[in-house]
Amino acid sequence: MATNNNRNLRLVVIDSDAAARAYIKRWLAGKGVRVVGESEDCNSGLRLARGLQPDLVLLELPAKGATPTMEFVKRIRMEFPGTGIILSAHDASPQLILSCIRAGAQEFVARPIDGAELDKAIEHVRQLSGVTLQNKTRGRVISVLSSKGGIGATSITANLGIALSERTGSRVVLVDMSFPFGDLGVMLDAPARYSLTDALAEGAIEETKLRSVLVSSAAGVHLLNVAASPEVSEEITRRHMVELVGTLSTMFDYVLIDIGRQMDERTVEILELCDTVLLVSALDLPTIRNTVCFTGILSKLNIDREKTHVVLNRYHKKSRLSLDDVETMIDRKVYWSIPNDYAPMSMAIDRGVPAVKNEPRSKVSKSFVDLAERIHSLGTDHPDAVEAVG
Ligand SMILES: Nc1ncnc2c1ncn2[C@@H]1O[C@H](COP(=O)(O)OP(=O)(O)OP(=O)(O)O)[C@@H](O)[C@H]1O
Ligand SMILES: [Mg+2]
Repeated sequence: MATNNNRNLRLVVIDSDAAARAYIKRWLAGKGVRVVGESEDCNSGLRLARGLQPDLVLLELPAKGATPTMEFVKRIRMEFPGTGIILSAHDASPQLILSCIRAGAQEFVARPIDGAELDKAIEHVRQLSGVTLQNKTRGRVISVLSSKGGIGATSITANLGIALSERTGSRVVLVDMSFPFGDLGVMLDAPARYSLTDALAEGAIEETKLRSVLVSSAAGVHLLNVAASPEVSEEITRRHMVELVGTLSTMFDYVLIDIGRQMDERTVEILELCDTVLLVSALDLPTIRNTVCFTGILSKLNIDREKTHVVLNRYHKKSRLSLDDVETMIDRKVYWSIPNDYAPMSMAIDRGVPAVKNEPRSKVSKSFVDLAERIHSLGTDHPDAVEAVG
């Protein structure tokens, strides 16, 4: 089978120099290599690699005490035989390069890292990938971001998640990151007794810990509350988000994260890591202005324009604004419009059973199902739907 050279490679950078990490991230932006995790040292780097299962690790080999790093390289090689390893060091002696290769690295770049050299090293590992990158699958991570409060982000997360699970037989988890927490649990009538913070006690977020705090709903999807209250949520860091997204994506086919309007370093991390951002908008001027503002923020954050899709909720033809007006204002096509359908949506809230399940024949439910099918059909194009190689 052919190697899919067009998909994004997922890279974890382990480097004690923050400036070097920032340079690498900037240099690689938009070049088909996505920095999905960063870390300062090998120990936390190993946790990241376990959670994220990257295609590539770019690792600094310190001038003094190279032995632990070499041990780390051997470990990565043993645990993740399909992951490419590139080392960087000031001393590029043939002896050192040979030791790196013997430990299991495929490439070596000199420090300070030169972007063009890094490109060559990555390209070389990419070519080798026909042999080295393993056949693995990783679930798709979709963030639902709201342009304004109360316009339906949580409803979309719940209904889309159920539609994906029912129509495609996918394993789906919904993550409640919006404030105040708990709306998803109410919509699914699945109150959470535990949340992610209960799983943090010590060490990294891993599958067994996550399983103990997931709630399974009658609607067939799982649910994870990130924190029981805003105060507790302070314990959660950007790093936790990397581990969370990485681990959930190995456990589920779809990870849908209701971000709401929360913009902080944790949600930014999620927006960077996820495969798709659904930016929810509505047909009124203040909301559309906010949507324009959010698309600007996403672009400043270097979030891929192509992965962001605007979903217009509560669409109705009699609105004073037309779809064309909206598309002109937001300077992009609307990806999907969900009709305004008050009765099934409010009935769903009263019953704790989302509309897709409670009234599958309603207009709004059909729209959610069609949206799920459109999103699912992208599956093979999405950057991490890894083709078999070798
Ligand atoms: N397409 C729709 N048609 C009719 N009503 C809808 C539609 N989508 C959502 N609603 C209703 O809008 C209200 C707000 O929805 P929801 O809680 O999903 O919004 P939200 O953006 O998550 O709000 P918050 O900012 O409070 O988190 C709910 O009563 C829901 O039933
Ligand atoms: Mg909400």
